Formats: sequence, C-alpha cells, structure tokens
Amino acid sequence: MKVLVFGGSFDPVHKGHVAMLKKALSVIKPDVTHVVPVYHSPFKAKSPTPFQLRMEMARAAFGGLGKNLIFDDYELQRGGKTYSYQLVQYLQKRYDHPEIYLLVGTDCLNDLHDWNNSDYIFANATIVAGRRKGFPEHKVTFKHISLPGQFPKMSSTRVRAHILSSGEIPTDKVPSSVADIIIKNDLHGLDQHRWLRAHLKPNRYLHSIKVAELCAVLSDIYEVPIQKAVQAGIFHDAGKGFSAEELISFCKKHHLKIPYFEDICHCEPALLHSFVSAELAQELFGLNDPEILNAISEHTLGSLEMTTLSKILFVADISSKDRKYKDAFVIRTLAMQDLEKALLYAANRKLWFTIDSQKWLCPTGIELWNHLVKHTA
Ligand SMILES: [Fe+2]
Ligand SMILES: [Fe+2]
Repeated sequence: MKVLVFGGSFDPVHKGHVAMLKKALSVIKPDVTHVVPVYHSPFKAKSPTPFQLRMEMARAAFGGLGKNLIFDDYELQRGGKTYSYQLVQYLQKRYDHPEIYLLVGTDCLNDLHDWNNSDYIFANATIVAGRRKGFPEHKVTFKHISLPGQFPKMSSTRVRAHILSSGEIPTDKVPSSVADIIIKNDLHGLDQHRWLRAHLKPNRYLHSIKVAELCAVLSDIYEVPIQKAVQAGIFHDAGKGFSAEELISFCKKHHLKIPYFEDICHCEPALLHSFVSAELAQELFGLNDPEILNAISEHTLGSLEMTTLSKILFVADISSKDRKYKDAFVIRTLAMQDLEKALLYAANRKLWFTIDSQKWLCPTGIELWNHLVKHTA
C-alpha cells in the first residue's frame, strides 16, 4: 500500500504546492494521500493563521487533484510540536506495512539530515523531492525520488509579505479558491489594510504601501525577516490621520512614555503620530513584537538604540517611491548599498527640512544626529 504524505504550514497554500502535489500524485500513484497541515512547525514561529483555516485552504486547493485524499488533522489532535518521524510512525501504525512517501521541496532536502530522528525517516520512508527554481540539484545520500521538472520558486512567507504590503493577493501565485478564503476571513493583513483605508487619506495610504515595499527590498539586503519589515512599513503612519488634539489626548490616555513629551505637545504634536501608530498596532491588531513596535515608534525621530529594522523603516519612510523630492532617490540608492550611510544622510535631510520649514527641532533628532556622526565612519 503506497501512502503519500504532504505536510506543510499551508499559510497560505500557493500554486507551487499544488504543482508539486499534482506531479507527485502522477509519479508515485499512491493508494492514499495524507495532506497534513502543520500544527506548529519545528522550524517556524507559531503560525498566526488558525489551523482550521489552513486546513480549509488545503481542501480548496488540493481537493480536486485526485482520489483518496485525506485531509488529516493529526497534528491538531496531537496538539503540539510534531516532527516528521512522528508522522511516519503514525502512518505505520495506521496502515498494514505501508510504503510511505514523504513529499518535500528541494529547499528542505539539504536540511533533512538535521531533522529530528532523520535516520528513522530514511529507514522507513522514501523522500519525494520537487525541485524549486533557484535551488541547485541536490546531492544527498539517502534514498529519494526526484520529481521531474522544476516547480515555481514560491514561498508562503513571501506570499504573506506581498499581501501584507500591498493589500492585494498575488493571483499568479495563489489559487483563486485559496484567495477567496483569505478575503473572506481577512487574513494576512487584509484587516489592517481595511482599517488604514478607512482612517488615512488616499495619498498617505499609498505612501504606507510604498514604504512597506521598500522595507521588503531592504529586508532582503540586510537580512531582516521580511514579514517584520513589511509589518513595520505598512502600519508606521496609522496615527497620521489624527488631529494634534487627538494625538495628545491619545498619548495621555494610554500613558505613553515619550521623551520631551511636553515640548512636543507644545511645539510639534504631529511628531506624536509614530508613537500612536505603534500603540494602535498593538491595541487594534494585537501586534506585540517589540522590534516592530519600536521601529514604528522611532520612524520619525529615531533613537540611540535603533535596530536594523528601525533603521530600515526610518530610511524607507523618507525615501519611498512616492516621495517626490530628489533626495528620496539619493537616499534610496544609498540604502541599497550602505544602510548606515543612508541613515546618516536621511537624518541630515530631516534636520534640514525642519530648519528650512522654521519648525522646532526635537532634541531626540539632534541626539540621533550626534550619535550617528560619532559612530559612523
Ligand atoms: Fe510618519
Ligand atoms: Fe511615513
């Protein structure tokens, strides 16, 4: 009895998953196929998308591919971390002398030796690997079957980042049945986009998208998780629609700790929007990653303890593609090569904009400038 197993976070299912399973079904010709959404992947942070919705996506995308597909909630029933060897053990108990085929992407293949109890897997299952574009031909010693052809270079993380940054579902990557589920359930940041469209002027909303896009590009260069960068970018100006009075009363009501708060309230309350945006992200959407929240808080004035993510957002905010001044292009180009230099340039331009506009200079901005000059070679 041939048993094919396809596990994954499926958050969301993309067309690369569909192509790989389709090919595996035609090559292996299994008697039964188990599609097993991960409850909590041993290699990833806990997925924010509920298990049942990921299962629904799997059913929608894979349901029509063949007969005897079992959409298996084994990992949900276990309710904890499940390794692949445990999945193999479970199938061995469920069937009488099964031939187990474990479907994986080539990107996983090279890490397979590091999987928990990998020898057990190699002894009791055959690995079926789909080669993804951009990954080299694998050289592994254990028995495996390479599916013919190449599969699209797609990842659920990238699909999620795309949806979160643009508010749109990439239809070239996501099956329409899966897109319907994402829309119906407001997944992957569509809820944030709805809120932003309702509370920001169209230009400001567009700016948020452009900042998120640039954050995504810079996250790849400076090796910051794309999801964090995009999240910081899309929500950084959420509080921008508040009036000066609303900003001040929001900060007071939420007891936000803001350096030079009294001076800011008196001289330039608009500067409060970054702190308000971070608080809104937490309050409305439950975002509680301190790195993301700090980056949002610091995007206007900076701080002396900026992380790479904070620097990316600070620079992206001043140089996103919707910015029309010529410095935007210069900073954006510089940011691709040297983030520290781009940050110094951005801080410089910000100070001069403020002086040229005859506005009050917040000491936090001056402190940042002095700190950067002192520490940037
Ligand atoms: Fe801002
Ligand atoms: Fe902004």
